[in-house]
Amino acid sequence: MPINYKNLGLVTTKEMFKKAIKEKFAIPAYNFSNMEQLQAIIQGCVETDSPVILQVSSSAYKYASPILLRHMIIGALQIVKESGAKIPVVLHLDHGDSFELCKFCIDNGFSSVMIDGSFLSYEKNICLTKKVARYAHSKNVVVEGELGVLAGIKDNIKAEKKFYTQPEKVKDFILKTGVDSLAIAIGTSHGAYKIVGRATSDHTLRFDILKKIKKQLPNFPIVLHGASSILPKYINIINQFGGDIENAVGISESQLRKAIKNGVCKINIDSDIRLVMTAIIRKTLVENPKEFDPRKYLGPSREELIKIIKYKNKKIFGSARYGHKK
Ligand code: G3H
Ligand code: 13P
Ligand code: ZN
Repeated sequence: MPINYKNLGLVTTKEMFKKAIKEKFAIPAYNFSNMEQLQAIIQGCVETDSPVILQVSSSAYKYASPILLRHMIIGALQIVKESGAKIPVVLHLDHGDSFELCKFCIDNGFSSVMIDGSFLSYEKNICLTKKVARYAHSKNVVVEGELGVLAGIKDNIKAEKKFYTQPEKVKDFILKTGVDSLAIAIGTSHGAYKIVGRATSDHTLRFDILKKIKKQLPNFPIVLHGASSILPKYINIINQFGGDIENAVGISESQLRKAIKNGVCKINIDSDIRLVMTAIIRKTLVENPKEFDPRKYLGPSREELIKIIKYKNKKIFGSARYGHKK
C-alpha cells in the first residue's frame, strides 16, 4: 500500500516557497543520514521556528534503509508536534537519478523529489524530468529539476567540470517538464573543496545568470546546491585532531545572502553538517582516549550541530521566526 505524505504530517514546498520568494528569505534544505543529524536539524529548526526540508540522497536512503528512515521521520514529526512549534516539514529526495527511485520515494511518503537529469543531454533531461513530474503531480508531490551541472565528487554525484546554467534555456525547460522548482549552476559545487586555487573572498557566484533567470521568471522557485560554507573553525579542528582536510573552501556567507537577495529560495546544506560532526567526534575521541561509548562523542557533535543549524537559519537563510512573518 503506497504511503501518502499527508498522512505522515508532511507538506510540500509550495506554500513555503511562495512565502520565501515574496519575503526574500530561503528555506533550509538539510541532508541527513542518521539519527543524530536528524535530531539536530529538527531541534535547531524548532528552536528557531524555521520551516525545514529534510533531504535524503539516494545513497543515504540505502544507508539508513527506507523503513527505518520512514519511522525516524514519523518520530521527528512527533517531536515537532510535542514541542508546540508550528513549522512545516518537507521530506525530499535529493539528486534522484531514475524514475524508479523517484516513484519509490513518492510511494513511500516523500512530499518532494528531485530528479537530477543534469548529466543527460538537454532533450533526455527534459524527457526524464517530465516523466517524474507527471507521476509526482498525480500524487500531489512536487518536483525539483536541475539544469546545468555542478562540479564536485560525491558518492553518486560525479562532475568534473562545471557547466553553468544557460538562462535562455530555463523557461523552455520548465514549460516542457512541468517542474515546480529548479536547481541551477552558478558557481557552487558539492563537497568541501569548492574553489580550487582561489581564496573565498575572490570567489563570486554568477549572479548575472541568476538575475537573467529571475528577470524572466520572478516567482519561480530557484534552488542553490553545493552551498555549504565549509566553516574554517571545523576544518581547523579536524586537521588539528588527526584529520587531513587541507585547503577546504566553501561559499562565503555574504555570497549566500546575496543569492537569497537575488531570489534563491532553497539552499542545500550537507557538507557543513558532516564537517561539524566529524570535527567534534575527532576532538572528543582524541581528548578522551579511553572513551568508547558512541553517545559520548555523538552527543557533543549533535549539540554543536544544533548551534550551527540555528545560526544558519537566523543569520544566513532568514528562515527563523517563520510563524511571525507577514
Ligand atoms: O549533494 C548531495 C549530497 O551531499 C549527497 O551526498 O550521495 O554522499 O549522500 P551522498
Ligand atoms: P554541500 O556539499 O555544499 O553541502 O551541498 C549539498 C547539496 O547540494 C545537497 O544536494
Ligand atoms: Zn546537491
